[in-house]
Amino acid sequence: GWKMEDVLEEELKIIKETVGPDDHVICGLSGGVDSTVAATLVHKAIGDRLHCAFVDNGLLRFKERARVMETFEKDLHLPVTCIDATEQFLSKLKGVTEPEKKRKIIGNEFICIFDAFAHDLEKKLQRKPLYLVQGTLYPDVIESCPPPGSGRTHSHTIKSHHNVGGLPKDMKLKLIEPLKLLFKDEVRELGRIMGVPVSFLKRHPFPGPGLAVRVPGDVTEGNRLDILRKVYEYLFLKYTQCNNIQLFNVFFCRLWCPYQADDIFIQAIKDAGIYDSIWQAFAVFMPVLTVGVQGDQRTHSYAIALRAVTSHDGMTADWYYFDHKFLADLSTRICNEVQGVNRVLLDITSKPPATIEWE
Ligand code: XMP
Repeated sequence: GWKMEDVLEEELKIIKETVGPDDHVICGLSGGVDSTVAATLVHKAIGDRLHCAFVDNGLLRFKERARVMETFEKDLHLPVTCIDATEQFLSKLKGVTEPEKKRKIIGNEFICIFDAFAHDLEKKLQRKPLYLVQGTLYPDVIESCPPPGSGRTHSHTIKSHHNVGGLPKDMKLKLIEPLKLLFKDEVRELGRIMGVPVSFLKRHPFPGPGLAVRVPGDVTEGNRLDILRKVYEYLFLKYTQCNNIQLFNVFFCRLWCPYQADDIFIQAIKDAGIYDSIWQAFAVFMPVLTVGVQGDQRTHSYAIALRAVTSHDGMTADWYYFDHKFLADLSTRICNEVQGVNRVLLDITSKPPATIEWE
């Protein structure tokens, strides 16, 4: 509609006025809708004086890195450097079990990496990048720091979203946050009118700390991340093999399927009018060993919890009602195909009292 087009014009104007004609800007791309739309907006305003970095922190979903890099380069023509920092992140997270500490460590590592990225760029360009683009949304702002009189009762931080207020004081970069007054649907609309592929804009949100907040406790212990990735992988395989699979798989797979391959599904979902009714769906690794019996073997393995919610803005959410037969099949297949798992749970908690993520 007319409203978002006005927002677009206004944002482009502000960015052009803010960023001088010789100034350079950096941006961290997460692979999500918010940072992608923010970067596309800035790229539209200042062209290749924008320099993006995508960091693989070892906490991404299955094949995520290859998929998003392809989107950035082929569809959006964004100037992106891919940085593999898996070792750096996982070594810092080793032995850490406290949720807030995990988030802080991940946030700090991102900052270190961007600092290094900015310094490399400075050498290359012979001038300092002056600005940093962030895809902060309105709900991120109020949830990390509720404004006075907003009616929210908590005075402490529920969860430290690393993309809000987490920059060190000695970092000389100024922030550009073009989405900070917008809600998610508005960001999608803004992306759409700028030509970001609709299939990409429909991606479910994925948290900055990645699988770390879906593996309670120490993420580096045993093969926890691998087990979680295998659940995603299994769903991916099922998705590509079969056209009429049910809702949950579709949404699971939407998290990371190459969108070139899932046109049919997206269309089917749209036709059925159900795609937009799920906000997020994902698996959570349960760091609990329980006894099972698989084949004629007694097992002592982990559990997987399935989480799917409906929401409008991520601030409140309801758990999603699934068909029982579908859940039964899913459970059987996960136990059969994902080594190290002998139990599947369904999270039936809304937000509040729970949050969407588990940490
Ligand atoms: P919660 O778990 O707080 O999540 O109910 C609300 C929404 O925010 C996402 N989320 C994050 N996004 N950095 C992000 O960029 C974070 O640290 C973070 N934590 C949660 C979450 O996936 C959900 O959509």
